[in-house]
Amino acid sequence: MRLFIAVNFDGPTKENIIAVQNRLRQLGRGNFSRPENLHLTLAFMGEVEPDQEITVCRLMDELAVPVLQLAFDQVGCFKREGGDIWWLGLAANKALLDLQKDLSSRLRKAGFAIENRRFSPHITLARKVLLNRKPDLSKLLGTPFATEAHTVSLMLSERINGRLTYTERYSAMKK
Ligand code: 2AM
Repeated sequence: MRLFIAVNFDGPTKENIIAVQNRLRQLGRGNFSRPENLHLTLAFMGEVEPDQEITVCRLMDELAVPVLQLAFDQVGCFKREGGDIWWLGLAANKALLDLQKDLSSRLRKAGFAIENRRFSPHITLARKVLLNRKPDLSKLLGTPFATEAHTVSLMLSERINGRLTYTERYSAMKK
């Protein structure tokens, strides 16, 4: 099973993210993340054996989840052959970085292969994007917005009838 740990968003925050997606949509075409799939990944475990899921749940129980103040303040893209990946970026904040580091280190100690590259908090808005013209990034973002999160979720990623589907399997919240 393919697992990752993420922060999911409340309805008003999703609406704000969707508004950015819609502005991007007007500039070209691409494979846009479905609203229910919008999330911020903290750790990606990838393909693991089903009996390892419980290890992740117990490890999440040990986490000190803080209140996360999340500010969405930039839009950008990763260049790719055949269409770029567009993302909404979050302002770095210590509580978020500390949580991501702590989580990654606990997962590594438990034997999961977690990449050691620098964490760049983002939400993937769309993949395989081909735009008709160069966008004005600040117009794409619109007014920066923020939200608060208290929960991290263990997510299962699978294809159901060809559709990429994420399902929450477990969660940990601020104690
Ligand atoms: P992405 O949106 O930037 O591709 C489910 O696939 C989630 O895990 C997505 O948020 C995805 O990030 C992330 N993800 C996929 N592969 C990853 C990797 N090797 N390292 C970190 N995150 C990854």
